[in-house]
Amino acid sequence: MRMSTLTIYYSYSGNTKRIAQKIHTKIGGDLAEIVPLEPYPDDYDKVVLQGRQEVNQRNKLEILPLNVDLSGYDRILLGTPVWWYTFAPAVRTFLSQYDLSGKTVFPFVTHGGWIGHTEKDIQSACAGASVERALSVQMNGSNLFTPEGKIDHWISKLQ
Ligand SMILES: Cc1cc2nc3c(=O)[nH]c(=O)nc-3n(C[C@H](O)[C@H](O)[C@H](O)COP(=O)(O)O)c2cc1C
Repeated sequence: MRMSTLTIYYSYSGNTKRIAQKIHTKIGGDLAEIVPLEPYPDDYDKVVLQGRQEVNQRNKLEILPLNVDLSGYDRILLGTPVWWYTFAPAVRTFLSQYDLSGKTVFPFVTHGGWIGHTEKDIQSACAGASVERALSVQMNGSNLFTPEGKIDHWISKLQ
């Protein structure tokens, strides 16, 4: 049976978006972006501090309504940057607003080398879903640090 797949991601500075697009190009299905209602500042350092507050206080960051009906998908490829050793607040809001139970979730995360407890946190936040091992992509700024081959291998298991 052919799986219907949604690739959905949040990305502040474009790294996770790039990986999402790569995955989507190879796997097909649909692609959606989680967008905060209030855009983050352009100033990276400000975002780092704001992000720390949001992660620590578990604020509910508002996101724009998504134009997708999740009931049509059995595979969710979920992309997030690591923010303060966990997944980004925008993804937290997405997971609290949408029911992924019964689906298989394949997380992919980008980070600068400190992934922390991101993978475990995603698992706990996806109640009722079956969560597969995450693809962890290390970036140095906007440069890929993880070998392309590792990403391609993860993608090939979805094909
Ligand atoms: C608010 C904030 C917090 C971050 N915290 C971490 C972290 O805990 N560990 C890490 O390795 N990288 C951290 N980073 C770096 C990002 O995870 C990394 O640059 C990621 O690839 C950015 O993805 P994006 O371009 O899709 O937003 C942080 C970046 C921001 C903006």
